[in-house]
Amino acid sequence: MLEDPGVQQYTMVPVPVPVPVPVPSGFERTWLDRYEEGRRDGTREGFAVVDEDGSFLGLALAFAIDREGHELELGYTVAPAARGRGVASVALRLLTDWAVRELDPQRIQLQISADNPGSKRVAVRAGYVYEGTRRSAQFKQGIRQDLEIWSRLPDDP
Ligand SMILES: CC(C)(COP(=O)(O)OP(=O)(O)OC[C@H]1O[C@@H](n2cnc3c(N)ncnc32)[C@H](O)[C@@H]1OP(=O)(O)O)[C@@H](O)C(=O)NCCC(=O)NCCS
Repeated sequence: MLEDPGVQQYTMVPVPVPVPVPVPSGFERTWLDRYEEGRRDGTREGFAVVDEDGSFLGLALAFAIDREGHELELGYTVAPAARGRGVASVALRLLTDWAVRELDPQRIQLQISADNPGSKRVAVRAGYVYEGTRRSAQFKQGIRQDLEIWSRLPDDP
């Protein structure tokens, strides 16, 4: 999955910072270690998305969990072979439900590159609301990207 240009361009590793390119050798371990560390101190959580037969489909991620402020940011990434069949939409709904159950969030945020239409559809399908755009907010692989802010508050339908 780390070889996929979409993952390299759009997926945030914790902080949030995009996957480094070229991907350093062993980076998958570093990535998972950050989530294990975050799970221990309560600042991050990461879930594998798996099919009914247990095969790996992608990742559903909670980075930057602020337990005191009841805020967090979510992310998701689907393996190329599993795209286009609703995996991300289900994953984001399940991840949102988990956050609501576990963290009583007053605000859940997504940051989505303005030129990532698939991810914006996923946000809409999970009930997130577009707030605005951070212009020229990220520099990656020679390209400056605008980042859209999407959020979900407790009273949102
Ligand atoms: C974006 C991504 C998560 C979508 O995953 P997915 O499982 O294929 O998405 P879904 O099947 O749930 O599709 C949801 C909707 O988005 C649409 N969609 C998916 N990919 C799309 C694309 N590249 N362009 C336009 N629409 C797209 C689907 O048609 C569907 O639309 P609908 O609501 O009208 O039916 C996946 O392509 C991915 O992992 N990309 C690389 C990493 C990434 O961008 N992560 C998100 C960072 S914010």
